[in-house]
Amino acid sequence: MAFPIDRPRRLRQTERFRRMVRETRLAVDNLIYPLFVCPGSGTRREVSSMPGCYQQSVDRLVEDCRDVAGLGIPAVILFGIPERKDEAGSGAYAPDGIVPLAIRAIKSAALDLTVITDVCLCEYTSHGHCGVVENGEVVNDATLELLAREAAAHAAAGADMIAPSDMMDGRIGAIRDHLDEIGYASVPILSYAAKYCSGFYGPFREAAESAPQFGDRRSYQMDPANRREALREVELDIAEGADIVMVKPALAYLDIVREVRDAFDVPVAAYNVSGEYSMVKAAAARGWIDERRVVLETLTAMRRAGADLILTYHAKDVARWLA
Ligand code: PBG
Repeated sequence: MAFPIDRPRRLRQTERFRRMVRETRLAVDNLIYPLFVCPGSGTRREVSSMPGCYQQSVDRLVEDCRDVAGLGIPAVILFGIPERKDEAGSGAYAPDGIVPLAIRAIKSAALDLTVITDVCLCEYTSHGHCGVVENGEVVNDATLELLAREAAAHAAAGADMIAPSDMMDGRIGAIRDHLDEIGYASVPILSYAAKYCSGFYGPFREAAESAPQFGDRRSYQMDPANRREALREVELDIAEGADIVMVKPALAYLDIVREVRDAFDVPVAAYNVSGEYSMVKAAAARGWIDERRVVLETLTAMRRAGADLILTYHAKDVARWLA
């Protein structure tokens, strides 16, 4: 018999063959585009560590959303930068806070676009932590009520989906109960279920002005060394009512995406975070890598690992490339 018998190269010969046997597809339907909204009008400030990403006032944000919808991207996720931060993060749950304002404006533009909102306190607290601080500690249970109020303010303004990113224990249940009680039982929750304490969030903290003013987030976000704990976190969030679960960051945690995909039947999202974006942008600006090729390769890898949805700052570029 001639050697070799198996010749996998046969089906790699032409793009038509490759297209026919391709196992994983990246589509615009998989994308969620993160946006930062700030007070003012006519404002559009580029985030220096995230070229192509902006802090935008509501009017400019609506224009951007129009582009996003026009590109066929199904959803945005909003992050708010309030006028003032305080100890209690009151801007997070103010009914007329920056995110509710943005939701109402996007909704009145009647775009074909799902509006998801990030629910957390860190963008709104003067100390920059994701929960209530007492005696220098982030306290869990007192935070839950504020998160539930924040989710309620977003739902009341018309948010299509709520995405809690704080990593307090029990927050999915607390938010679900409260939303159900006040008439928003049909608003789904996308939970940042396995969110690791990561150095890859650095540029985001410039974009959202949310860096902790003391200490770090290790008492609530997960230790990057842990795998079993991620499955436990996801299990808890599903039991508490999460409709979609997220792993974050994405690239350094594709093993976790795969395990979550295999262990649970709910849709899985992966967050291609700010630091992942900035690294690609920086290298591409120097001509060291081919941006388009690397972005499509990494997002395809996230899909291959099992992510149904990908939150990514590259979404608009990707939608153009895929068109
Ligand atoms: C808020 C939040 C963070 C991100 C999303 N929601 C930052 C953090 O936990 O410090 C990070 C997103 C990114 O880096 O792109 N808790």
